[in-house]
Amino acid sequence: MDRIRIRGGQPLNGTIPISGAKNAALPLMIASLLTEETLELSNVPRLADIASLLRILSNFGVDHMIAGRRPGETQETGQTIRLTAGSVVDTFAPYELVSTMRASFWVIAPLVARFGEARVSMPGGCAIGTRPVDLLIMALEKLGATIEIDGGYVVARAPDGLKGGEIDFPKVTVGGTHVALMAAALADGTTVIRNAAREPEVTDLAECLVKMGARIEGAGTSEITVHGVPKLNGTSHDVLPDRIETGTYAMAVAMTGGNVLLENTKPELLQFALDVLEQAGAKITREGNGIRVYRNGNGIQPVDVTTDPFPGFPTDLQAQFMALMTRAGGTSRIRETIFENRFMHVQELARLGARIRLDGDGAFVDGVDGLKGAPVMATDLRASACLVIAGLAAEGETTINRVYHLDRGFEALETKLSRCGADIERVKG
Ligand code: UD1
Repeated sequence: MDRIRIRGGQPLNGTIPISGAKNAALPLMIASLLTEETLELSNVPRLADIASLLRILSNFGVDHMIAGRRPGETQETGQTIRLTAGSVVDTFAPYELVSTMRASFWVIAPLVARFGEARVSMPGGCAIGTRPVDLLIMALEKLGATIEIDGGYVVARAPDGLKGGEIDFPKVTVGGTHVALMAAALADGTTVIRNAAREPEVTDLAECLVKMGARIEGAGTSEITVHGVPKLNGTSHDVLPDRIETGTYAMAVAMTGGNVLLENTKPELLQFALDVLEQAGAKITREGNGIRVYRNGNGIQPVDVTTDPFPGFPTDLQAQFMALMTRAGGTSRIRETIFENRFMHVQELARLGARIRLDGDGAFVDGVDGLKGAPVMATDLRASACLVIAGLAAEGETTINRVYHLDRGFEALETKLSRCGADIERVKG
């Protein structure tokens, strides 16, 4: 199994190109099931999760074509994928394929909307809490699907098609909103989605669906109205920049000091987190089509943070921010309100010398003068990134095991960081 080896202590200086967002690319790829015509997606990151979803879609009979690299394109320039669900032969998503990635469960929505039935395994994904799918099922039921749980599979049926309805989410769910949008797009009549997720990835999906002929109003707000249409068409769509990757590298720079331009990304995708980083002592400016982050000389200030749905502080940056706070000049409190059990990185950070106390949904982080390199284990996708950030600042060598978690969500991480002066390498094994 591959490992990442880091010798800490180098500041980061240079340019990091930000990839397309994994969390936008996945629902966009799934949306290809809504039409028999071709959906062309560009700026798709090269990640393990994207490859897994391609396998699942192929299993249904979706044709895909990955465009060759054009002159000037590098490994970090996203890929273009054409997906055509013209001859879907199966609406069954087996456990072996769905269990590795939670988002693949979302295929249930376009399948039942377009073909009247779907049989999809209950999902897997990061081990960060129970992560149920009750609200996704509720959304489909509100649109007239009948749902049966059979041997670990969710079987959704709507032989006469879905009907528009009212979906009131009791809590904000990104996946639930994606599912509701895709299902409602082909339902007969109007659907109102209340307490909808406002995440940029939801807006990106809605924009693509509109280009495909869907009639959607209010995406990006907490109430979305969808007027169903009988058929959708193909289109081309550029995946939006990855705000979590952006925030992760911004935090890495805040941690190590230095000066880095994050290219192809936008501050408004993560304004809350950038404001927090400024309070912590980083300087952040918009520059060209990117964001410049620097911290020179001054120390890291402790900042209290609570995770919240967009536009609040993203749960997917909580672990990375905790890594930063381990070096702050004082105590910070980090509350996790989205997922229970999303503190598995705490014990790994402790191996590097961090001082963190857990108290229910909160973590108190007492900043220390220095971290010391050690072997650590990646426990989930975002926690792996937190260990990288800590390792970049730790004295001596840090080895991160189980980096397949990182490969699910961070494109060419070690290349991007080493180009900015980090002493980081992948050890094959
Ligand atoms: C998505 C993101 C993930 C991010 C999360 C929250 C993708 C591929 N993943 O995950 O990176 O951390 O949003 O921003 O985009 N819940 C229920 N019942 C349900 C569904 C969700 O109780 O049926 C709960 C969850 O347990 C959690 C909360 O709702 O407590 C939010 O989860 P949700 O927004 O649905 O997360 P995902 O869409 O799975």
